[in-house]
Amino acid sequence: MKVILVGAGPGDEELITIKGLKAIKSGDVIIYDDLINKNLLKYAKEDAELIYVGKRKGKHSYKQEDINRLLVEKVKENKVVVRLKGGDPFVFGRGGEEVLYLKKHNIPYEVIPGITSAIAVPEVAGIPLTYRKISTSFTVVTGHEAEDKEEKQVKLRNLNGDTIVILMGITNLEEHVEELLKNPRRSEDTPVAIITRGTTERQKVIKGTLGNIVKKAKENSVKPPGVIVVGDVVNVLDNI
Ligand SMILES: C[S@@+](CC[C@H](N)C(=O)[O-])C[C@H]1O[C@@H](n2cnc3c(N)ncnc32)[C@H](O)[C@@H]1O
Repeated sequence: MKVILVGAGPGDEELITIKGLKAIKSGDVIIYDDLINKNLLKYAKEDAELIYVGKRKGKHSYKQEDINRLLVEKVKENKVVVRLKGGDPFVFGRGGEEVLYLKKHNIPYEVIPGITSAIAVPEVAGIPLTYRKISTSFTVVTGHEAEDKEEKQVKLRNLNGDTIVILMGITNLEEHVEELLKNPRRSEDTPVAIITRGTTERQKVIKGTLGNIVKKAKENSVKPPGVIVVGDVVNVLDNI
């Protein structure tokens, strides 16, 4: 018996790996997050126990410590536990913390990577994160750091990569734009895209520049979850 951390992919139910799908089919318990495509649960065994531990929709149900404990508790009941997480488990998914907890409790585990929204969401919206002669690097950052941190680790003004990808950045968009503009590599004309609910039928793409994206986001009532992409790659496939 073990815990299998599975990356569910970015939203489209077909963007899970074969290995991830096999794991879902084998699970006695599926412990899942908010951003996974719920259609994936149809592949679970008929008698599998499905436990939602997401933090959205006003139901602040499980804290991270509760989830960690639940994983251990269910394995000790002699069950195969699938921990289904959005995108990739180790990209801003607290998968690392869960693994550490399992290790401390001598619980066998496996991690199955998933397609991260950081790359797939821009890609499906027509934005390559690298492009010859235009972008030779991309930096993925969080736009929302732990509230108990004394000082922010990420200062967007210090990021010099060609393409910047911000996850969890919609709520503080205005602050992020101000920070990005403090780097001399960027200006009010630097292209920006915001993709919400990417790879799903609810996907929305808004493009603009650092100078007007805040206004555009307000006009379009942009809401999380979304990926923000900053850099010249945003329009690179539009000019053909
Ligand atoms: C807690 S992070 C988890 C990221 C996940 N582990 C991954 O690899 O994609 C959640 C953030 O991922 C981004 N995200 C996840 N799925 C998304 C989607 N379908 N469309 C847009 N953004 C998405 C949003 O920035 C969201 O706030």
